Amino acid sequence: MSKQRIIAIDGPAASGKSTVAREVAKRMNCIYVDSGAFYRGVTWKMIQEGVNTKNPLLVLPALLKSKWKFDVRDGAVFFTIDGVEPGEALRGKEVREAVSDIAAIPGVRIFVVRELRKLKKLGSLAMEGRDIGSVVFPKTPYKFYLDANPEERAKRRHAELVASGETEKAQEVLESLQRRDQKDSSRKTAPLKIAVGAYVIDTSGHNIEEVARILMDRIAELEKPRSEKMLNPIWYSITCNFFWVCLRLRNRIKFYGLRNVPKTGGVIVASNHASYIDPPAVGACTYRTRMTHFMARDTLFKKGFMNWFLHKVGVIPLDRDKGDVKAMKTAIALLKDGASVALFPEGTRSLDGTLQPAKPGIGFLVAKGNAPVVPVYVHGSYEAWSKNSDGWKPKPVSVIFGQLITQEQIRGLGEGREAYGLIGELIMKRIAELKEKFEKGLIHE
Ligand code: DC
Repeated sequence: MSKQRIIAIDGPAASGKSTVAREVAKRMNCIYVDSGAFYRGVTWKMIQEGVNTKNPLLVLPALLKSKWKFDVRDGAVFFTIDGVEPGEALRGKEVREAVSDIAAIPGVRIFVVRELRKLKKLGSLAMEGRDIGSVVFPKTPYKFYLDANPEERAKRRHAELVASGETEKAQEVLESLQRRDQKDSSRKTAPLKIAVGAYVIDTSGHNIEEVARILMDRIAELEKPRSEKMLNPIWYSITCNFFWVCLRLRNRIKFYGLRNVPKTGGVIVASNHASYIDPPAVGACTYRTRMTHFMARDTLFKKGFMNWFLHKVGVIPLDRDKGDVKAMKTAIALLKDGASVALFPEGTRSLDGTLQPAKPGIGFLVAKGNAPVVPVYVHGSYEAWSKNSDGWKPKPVSVIFGQLITQEQIRGLGEGREAYGLIGELIMKRIAELKEKFEKGLIHE
């Protein structure tokens, strides 16, 4: 079954949202919902019953007495009220003139919003209206706000009216539209406004095809795996190749056990840290199998170029002084999306080149990210460029990738705070084993 999408398309009258929503619904296999028709339905019913549409005290009891039934036909939602389908009457002048008053009644809005939300059970929806992204489905990631200048909107609406046999003058249509815009955006309950996170499209001068394309491209962009959105593969490749050449020339860099890094799926690459050289060394070696996201202290992002560069190569900013929830969430989401995340469990560069204990947050990340861990030992980077040294020295550097620590092994350490500590210890223990083996000359390929 394909994924359920709720596409919210808001905007003022005649901004093109109905036509675009229908087109997008057709192309993306969604059910089209015209939420304005619900407010028009309430208005039509009140006119039928002779209820004063400006008086909430009369409207609400009459509305609650009515029976609404919904049905999907030709990919769109239709309704009957007390067994009658209002059909074209919803577009008539009488309804048109009264609907803004009806739509401003809070009780009516509660009723309609509840009915609209229930439609979710039908599957994917392309729903157009005024408050779909802000009130009805505020959690959907697919929020759009279509707009056009008032003259263009009035021209479109006038053409629609003429086509349906109405005789209103263009100027009257413009004035009526402006009156409705004013009422819709100034009412107290759910006024017309751009929802937080909505993607605004100015439809003036664009045809339906073009707007539908812009909208669907945006959906495709939103659905790209997080990793693809976070890094630019070209810059990543240039960077890793550059580091590789530099480290090869100056430090005769070598790597061992790269086959331990799985080619696909979420994985954590956890390395010791004694030098500036470690991130480029681990990144350039790992790149021979796959791209990986590093975490780096957020202060590095302060300068213009570094900020640009670190974002291009997918680095996650981390506030090391406090438990950085945002960075943790990003890393966990990347791992769940099947990406690779590289980190330095010791947190900061070791002052004397010896291995340090892991920071507490590491175990948490590994447990929540639900991904295996590749322990990595970088040898020689301390000698090549330590925290206290005066620059980059031509000492040999080796990067050793150890056997995968599986999620079963990690889960075997238990749950909660205590387990987080044990996870960090296990990773550092595996790195220490790699160090020992390497120093004894036991690692060859
Ligand atoms: O989109 P439309 O012209 O059919 O909308 C009719 C009226 O209903 C209009 O005055 C705005 C109002 N409306 C609303 O307040 N909220 C919605 N989600 C949809 C329409």
